[in-house]
Amino acid sequence: MCGIVGYLGSRDAASLLLKGLHRLEYRGYDSAGIALVSPAGKLNVYKCCGKVSNLEEFLDGKDISGTTGIAHTRWATHGVPDNTNAHPHLSQSGRLALVHNGIIENYRILKDALTESGFSFKSDTDSEVLVNLIEYIRDSSGCDLTEAVRLALRKVIGAYAIALVETGNPDRIIAARKSSPLVIGLGKDEYFLCSDAASIIEYTNDFVYVNDEEIAILERGKQLRTVTLDNEEGHIDIRKLELSISQLEKGGYPHFMLKEIHEQPRTINDCIRGRINQATGEVSLTGVLDNMDRFLNARRIIFVACGTSWHASLIGGYLIESLCRIPVDVEYASEFRYRNPVIYKDDIVVAVSQSGETADTLAAVSLACKAGAFVFGICNAVGSSIARATDSGAYIHVGPEIGVASTKAFTGQVTVMAMMALVIGRRKGTVSNEDYDIISRGLLELPEKMKEVLKVSERIADLAKIFTYAHNFIYLGRGYNYPTALEGALKLKEISYIHAEGYPAAEMKHGAIALIDAEMPTVVIATRDHTYDKTVSNIEEIRSRGGRIIAIVEQGDDKVSRIADHCIEVPPVPECLSPIIVSVPLQLLAYYIAVYKGRDVDQPRNLAKSVTVE
Ligand code: G6P
Repeated sequence: MCGIVGYLGSRDAASLLLKGLHRLEYRGYDSAGIALVSPAGKLNVYKCCGKVSNLEEFLDGKDISGTTGIAHTRWATHGVPDNTNAHPHLSQSGRLALVHNGIIENYRILKDALTESGFSFKSDTDSEVLVNLIEYIRDSSGCDLTEAVRLALRKVIGAYAIALVETGNPDRIIAARKSSPLVIGLGKDEYFLCSDAASIIEYTNDFVYVNDEEIAILERGKQLRTVTLDNEEGHIDIRKLELSISQLEKGGYPHFMLKEIHEQPRTINDCIRGRINQATGEVSLTGVLDNMDRFLNARRIIFVACGTSWHASLIGGYLIESLCRIPVDVEYASEFRYRNPVIYKDDIVVAVSQSGETADTLAAVSLACKAGAFVFGICNAVGSSIARATDSGAYIHVGPEIGVASTKAFTGQVTVMAMMALVIGRRKGTVSNEDYDIISRGLLELPEKMKEVLKVSERIADLAKIFTYAHNFIYLGRGYNYPTALEGALKLKEISYIHAEGYPAAEMKHGAIALIDAEMPTVVIATRDHTYDKTVSNIEEIRSRGGRIIAIVEQGDDKVSRIADHCIEVPPVPECLSPIIVSVPLQLLAYYIAVYKGRDVDQPRNLAKSVTVE
């Protein structure tokens, strides 16, 4: 989704901004642009459709001097992806240049009013309306630029992160945000601005997270200053962020996604490190322990999430219900936020988000907070908006996930949910000591089991060759692995563009079975859980209709291997942890099919890593 980078200091802004844009590429975008203020105060804006590399070629021979600038990658919302709709947008006079992430919902009304006042627009974007509104307010009231930005933003309904520069002033960038991420990196006599801290981590570890409805004024030679939309001076809170650059690079793998799949033995280890006692198997999760009374007295737990995080939440729901005997609802954040849901004060809302920036999940968090529920976050990105907006939480600690298709975050999320369920279940007395030990030992063994399961990589690459032709896939699973089936299907859809549907295995008989034929491969998760025999019967039903079956089975399985066309073996783990292991071959299958189809695995068409608009 859209990305912002800004710089003010003494380095060459253009090269630094372009590097920042490259780091943001993984988030998904369709055009890129840059605005530079030369030392003499000239404002140069360049933008074009397509990749950042197109922009780089376009800049060849142009005046890109200056140590102050803002840059943007756009993911189209208003108007097609083309050169005109790309950011930065200039105000009518050409004196202001603005980049914007998010959506101005009342842009039409504002645009009509500005048109009546003599403004005309080049692009179809809501962002061009905002830059002109700022200009209009400044010119008509004679106020300074910061005040014009403040007054303009008070008129805006919607979400935004913006950065603004002006002709004649290479010494200032004005930025602001509401419901869309924006951080400022502090260097020595220099400022970095970004919608994703990871993209500027090579320059600084000191960050200031701009608060909602706050304007930040970055001025050469001056302290950072923020002001709220109510015109109150903001408080500057500097936070440290430790990340290594190698985490943002491919490390010899052809794609980030493959790297991230193979990182999972380590990321699971990072996720459980310090949280499970190796000797006793005792699990501790600070965010839960510190709020144990809330969990023990919870009337209900509501998971809210989107995409892969929603699939992980379904598994979390099964875990909590089974081990803690607390009723659970699992909601798409986008539905929850607009459904006028019943939220009790003794409900706990668990917001699950890799990026911690998904607009719908963030809005669901704010709704739950307003309703008085206790809100717990399960996030990956440290310091992200959701992590900061929730009452408490647990990070999954899997490191930056760059591939658009989520892999290591999913397994990390389920791992945290399993630990949560154990901690609460133990205190509630709803999990037996025996089950507790089996599951906590199972968690400790996961990194080794992950290494084992990754050995199927080559076998899956071979299998993927056979199935690259397919136009449709069905994924089936039961119990804990029904959400895994949904996730497997989503992975394939996302990166190969093959249509794939996940179903609870038994539900197939109520419709999807009509689709089965020799052209439609079915991936069945048939590990030895308490519904194993039922799943075997489902496989028979597919086979007798001429369907082709790829089965994920446990090592040593001899029942399914006799009836499935292809079997992929995974090591046995406790049933509730099975999705963590089973999802790995499904990730690999999707990955290799996409590679054989020549797809852009890390940046699939139309998708964004972090969906900061609703
Ligand atoms: C996008 C990403 C998915 C992700 C979903 C939710 O659609 O492409 O991979 O699962 O957003 O993102 P979150 O960061 O909230 O987990």
